[in-house]
Amino acid sequence: MAYRICLLPGDGIGPEVIDCAEQVLRALPLDLEFVCAEIGLSAYERLGTPLPDSTLEEIRISSAALFGAVTTPPAIPNYFSPVVRMRQTLELYANLRPCQSIPHPSSRTNIDLVIVRENTEGLYSGIERLEDDGNRAVTERVITRRGSERIVRKAFDLARQTNRKSVHVVHKANVLRQTCGLFRSVAFEIAKEYPDITMHEMLVDTCAMELVRAPEQFEVIVTTNLFGDILSDEACMFVGGLGVAASGNIGANVAVFEPVHGSAPSLVGTGKANPMATFLAAAMMLDYLNEIESAERLRRAVNECIANNESTPDLGGSLSTGQVTERVIQRI
Ligand code: NAI
Ligand code: MG
Repeated sequence: MAYRICLLPGDGIGPEVIDCAEQVLRALPLDLEFVCAEIGLSAYERLGTPLPDSTLEEIRISSAALFGAVTTPPAIPNYFSPVVRMRQTLELYANLRPCQSIPHPSSRTNIDLVIVRENTEGLYSGIERLEDDGNRAVTERVITRRGSERIVRKAFDLARQTNRKSVHVVHKANVLRQTCGLFRSVAFEIAKEYPDITMHEMLVDTCAMELVRAPEQFEVIVTTNLFGDILSDEACMFVGGLGVAASGNIGANVAVFEPVHGSAPSLVGTGKANPMATFLAAAMMLDYLNEIESAERLRRAVNECIANNESTPDLGGSLSTGQVTERVIQRI
């Protein structure tokens, strides 16, 4: 099948790692057509907006998109986060963050979990205000039945598709009785549709602790936006860190995959940026396109490089971004 892949290089090391990922994807036996679209500070400087409508349209009409990273400038009035805006406008409601052990001394073993984070509502709904002459700040936490249903269903479907047997529903309903209460009760209803999967519930603070104590107990974690943001960054540190952490933002018919790291301004042009996180994001994209064999081949090539110390300095290696890319292509 032919696919149209939208590349969103962005800022900083984004264009470097996306260029490497394009080379790696071209080495696979797939029929891919690439288009490029602008996002981030560089787009703002050229076009006056960090997220042009034409970019949103390119993502919509593509089979999937692969995004590098953007730089958030400290103080431009009216500037907005193009990543948050993209997730909300395209209704990319599910953020998937796999955490899998890598063959590297810094990685803990036997970890193979996916955090499924709600990506459009919760505390990141964008409803904030100052009251009392600026002495009281309020952020509204919006949880909906529809939003909870679709994210919990996504988690159970993913568990089923990947032969996992359990889903942990993570919340704080003992304190946030209304918002987390709704999320929790929806989860219990949806879980009944999946008798083959065991549902566990866990309070978010307990989950943070259990992730450190015994991460191998988790298979799928589903939770609301802010909790998922924090837990997924926590979990990725057990399995190699930012240089290899990938994620996917999935909507009804649209999906954007990305490395978890930012634009790492100090690494630009140094050859020290690890492109593997973007390769693993590309592998997630291939899974999404149902090109499972190519996805596995790419992941295997990355893991072989890691095991042979063919890596950038963040993983203790001495190769450059381009050299790592060459090694991965050789192993493909
Ligand atoms: P960062 O992720 O860019 O960097 C954090 C640390 O990890 C730095 O020491 C960096 O050198 C290192 N690092 C990051 N990516 C790496 C890679 N591929 N290989 C090796 N080392 C890597 O986060 P930071 O420094 O907090 O933010 C820098 C800029 O990125 C900011 O403007 C921030 O707003 C933006 N950002 C963008 C994100 C996105 O586009 N999704 C996510 C996080 C931050
Ligand atoms: Mg984060």
